[in-house]
Amino acid sequence: MGSREFGSGLKSAPKDALRVGVIGAGVMGSNHARVLAGLPDSNLVGVVDPVEAHRTRASELANCRTFDTLEVLLAEGVEAVTIAAPTHLHHEIALHCIARKIHVLVEKPIASTVEEGREIVEAARRAGVTLMIGHVERFNPAVAAIKQAITGEDILSIAITRVGPFPPRMSNVGVVIDLAVHDIDLIRWFTESDIVEVQPQLSSAVAEREDIALLQFRTASGVLAHINTNWLTPFKARNVTVATRRKYVMGDLLTRQVTECFGFKPDGSYSMRHLPVGHDEPLRAELIAFLDAVRSSGAPAVTGDEGVASLEIATRCLETSARPAAARSARKGPRRVVG
Ligand SMILES: NC(=O)c1ccc[n+]([C@@H]2O[C@H](COP(=O)([O-])OP(=O)(O)OC[C@H]3O[C@@H](n4cnc5c(N)ncnc54)[C@H](O)[C@@H]3O)[C@@H](O)[C@H]2O)c1
Repeated sequence: MGSREFGSGLKSAPKDALRVGVIGAGVMGSNHARVLAGLPDSNLVGVVDPVEAHRTRASELANCRTFDTLEVLLAEGVEAVTIAAPTHLHHEIALHCIARKIHVLVEKPIASTVEEGREIVEAARRAGVTLMIGHVERFNPAVAAIKQAITGEDILSIAITRVGPFPPRMSNVGVVIDLAVHDIDLIRWFTESDIVEVQPQLSSAVAEREDIALLQFRTASGVLAHINTNWLTPFKARNVTVATRRKYVMGDLLTRQVTECFGFKPDGSYSMRHLPVGHDEPLRAELIAFLDAVRSSGAPAVTGDEGVASLEIATRCLETSARPAAARSARKGPRRVVG
């Protein structure tokens, strides 16, 4: 066992390109590999996955080498990795790479528990390596347009809808960890404030884990926020509205249409305009930001502390859910996210 060459046309990268590896060749990892293979200043050394069929899929998508164990990839020499293995492995894999002074981008959520997330953050800090978390929605151009529209405004409330059908392959997590954690991060980022109060309502209509969640929050800065998420809607929808004292901003994250209402008059009239929105692929923008942070040793766009903070709020929603006591599991100890 070991490495596998694929095809004859492996890209030759510039000499000073960063040597990057991808860990996990599932849905996300294959896309990481595809994007990294196309970035001019990254040298994709290869992708690791224990499952041969997944390695084949990734190598076909990215035309790159694949490895069946992490050790074989590390023996090739990498300066940075992206970790897109199942969430319960993030902690072990991240610590292993950080101990070898390798910069890491960890897919969201950062880890299975807040404690594990903190250990990753602390290890990266001590080793002096870049740690970024893959909250890719921040790189959605519609989200960036909303952020720009509300910067400097007095934000009053935020409402986010993220609904759709059940995913084809169910992991062992519910909608709070799988979906709402994106929006918890957005609420913290939009408001530049911590969430201090959570009022979750969860229900498991079909799945074993929660498949409907209505989450209400208050930030330290006084903003009220609401997330409506479920796997029981026949179509995908991702909508964000932000009410500020002077504006009402509406964004569709799928069609990438962002509109703002402004100029409110005492007679109830107001003006409305569509805002310009870019076309970047969010994952590409995220991976470029990661490589830039590695090269500059600057703060990454999404820090490990931010990843932990969002996981902490999501975990709190699960622990303080207002479901009837009988419906809750009698688990002891910190809640783990398995995915
Ligand atoms: N940012 C986003 O929008 C987003 C979307 C989906 C998933 N994710 C996250 O990405 C991660 C992966 O999710 P996915 O949907 O791609 O899952 P997936 O199940 O499709 O892929 C996981 C892959 O990891 C492989 N794997 C298992 N053990 C491994 C090991 N020891 N070393 C290397 N690879 C190993 C599996 O064989 C599989 O191919 C999760 O943490 C998930 O939360 C993020």
